[in-house]
Amino acid sequence: MPLVHRVLPPQSIESLEEYVTRRGGRGIEAAEEVDADALIATLEASGLRGRGGAGFPTGRKWRTVRENASDVLATTVVVNGAEGEPGTFKDRTIMRLDPYAVIEGALIAARAVGAREIIFGLKKAFVPEVSRMRAAIVEMQRAGWSEGVELTVYEGPDEYLYGEETALLETLDGRYPFPRIAPPFRRGITEVVEHADDVGTGSGLSAHVEMAVPGGDTGAPPTLVDNVETMANIPRIISRGADWFRTEGTQESPGTIVCTITGSTRRAGVGEVLMGTPLREVIEMIGGGPRKGRRIKAVLPGVSTAIIPEHLLDTPASYEGLAGIGSGLGSGGFLVFDDTDDLAAVAAGASRFLAIESCGQCTPCKRDGLSLADLLARVSRSEATERDLGEIGDLVRTVSEGARCSLGLQHEALVGSILTAFGDELEAHVRGAAPSVEPTLITELVGLEGDEAVWNERHRNKQPDWTYGSEDSGKWPAERLDEHRAPKPLED
Ligand SMILES: Cc1cc2nc3c(=O)[nH]c(=O)nc-3n(C[C@H](O)[C@H](O)[C@H](O)COP(=O)(O)O)c2cc1C
Ligand code: SF4
Repeated sequence: MPLVHRVLPPQSIESLEEYVTRRGGRGIEAAEEVDADALIATLEASGLRGRGGAGFPTGRKWRTVRENASDVLATTVVVNGAEGEPGTFKDRTIMRLDPYAVIEGALIAARAVGAREIIFGLKKAFVPEVSRMRAAIVEMQRAGWSEGVELTVYEGPDEYLYGEETALLETLDGRYPFPRIAPPFRRGITEVVEHADDVGTGSGLSAHVEMAVPGGDTGAPPTLVDNVETMANIPRIISRGADWFRTEGTQESPGTIVCTITGSTRRAGVGEVLMGTPLREVIEMIGGGPRKGRRIKAVLPGVSTAIIPEHLLDTPASYEGLAGIGSGLGSGGFLVFDDTDDLAAVAAGASRFLAIESCGQCTPCKRDGLSLADLLARVSRSEATERDLGEIGDLVRTVSEGARCSLGLQHEALVGSILTAFGDELEAHVRGAAPSVEPTLITELVGLEGDEAVWNERHRNKQPDWTYGSEDSGKWPAERLDEHRAPKPLED
């Protein structure tokens, strides 16, 4: 199966005029012809699932947000462009090549849920994407596409957790990127906080956010948060219809997915494939397959789920396909390891990333996460004992206890799956049968230069307290609130 171009154009679209020439704008035109209910019904029928990682049905989310609109405050649409999953570069690529479709999708979303404000949550470090999105917004505003809707690009912090939707909302409210205790359709921007201390640089942790109730009340309205790629799919679904969208992909995962391939392949890259394409083919098409003379050993879909051993590579890349083998599609980013890669070093590197990025609001996630990372690094350096291996098994079972967000569960699934599938490699280090290796750097991509992936080398110096000094304070990010500078809140 070849690569396709539904949301990822073959070349960059340079102007709004060019976008319109390539059939851009037909989604919003079609949306203006129907009421919000019909719009949402089309999306529900299309079966589109959110491309941010969880694969939640987008139409169902839009309907819930609409039904929970407040009588007092307008709903906000937030586009999640915080992309920080290790091995994923697809949202940044989409925003670079076609920011217009993302904005058009968000404008359709605003119409469907009755929002008058759209915030694009990017990172300050995403300089080319911030500038492309801002320039496209200006063009679209001048051309009258966004009448009655305010569009803002927010430049957020580097932290991985900033991409978690409730942490993103916390950041937009001027607090730290710490996940909230909140159900999926939480109250959003400017939500109700229980204690004055919860606000700004006060001593509280993330705000306690209540479930939005139907019809709204004196509180704040719900916020719709959707991923960049999800939004980029919307215009064509609305202009061409649900049946058209369902002609590609699988029954449970219709459409396409934009994948990133990095690691031990001939090249690194981003490409769009039909949902359901066997993962081995995805790796061939985008990454050129294994390097000469090498054999793929395993693939990690980011750091959010279980490792996929080579014998399962013919599994269809779809939500149900990868869930069926106990792993997941995540955000379509696949880190490939071959027979020269040491999976003890990979486990240690991935565990370190998750432990460092944990905010520490939940004790097991940070405490047990850091211990896991330390022990796995000892294994990788061939300094660990059998007892350490046993302790690793115990910590895998406790790291997600009481976890407020999915990060704790990710840690459990990822390390647990490496122990199950590649426990012999870890044991070889303990027996002294494998040489000492430093943990693999597992972190965010900062670029793709030619065929090469560029990783965030700075993460090597990131401390568990989220500073970059030579020493860790020993405090967890959640304990350092009064020392932190709150990110700049959005102006009212
Ligand atoms: C630790 C963590 C990091 C995440 N990072 C991102 C991210 O960078 N971008 C994103 O769109 N979703 C990310 N998510 C998922 C979001 O919380 C949320 O599910 C998504 O933005 C919803 O949009 P969708 O329904 O369109 O997928 C992350 C989740 C977790 C737990
Ligand atoms: S599970 Fe971990 S990252 Fe998520 S809120 Fe708790 S401590 Fe923070």
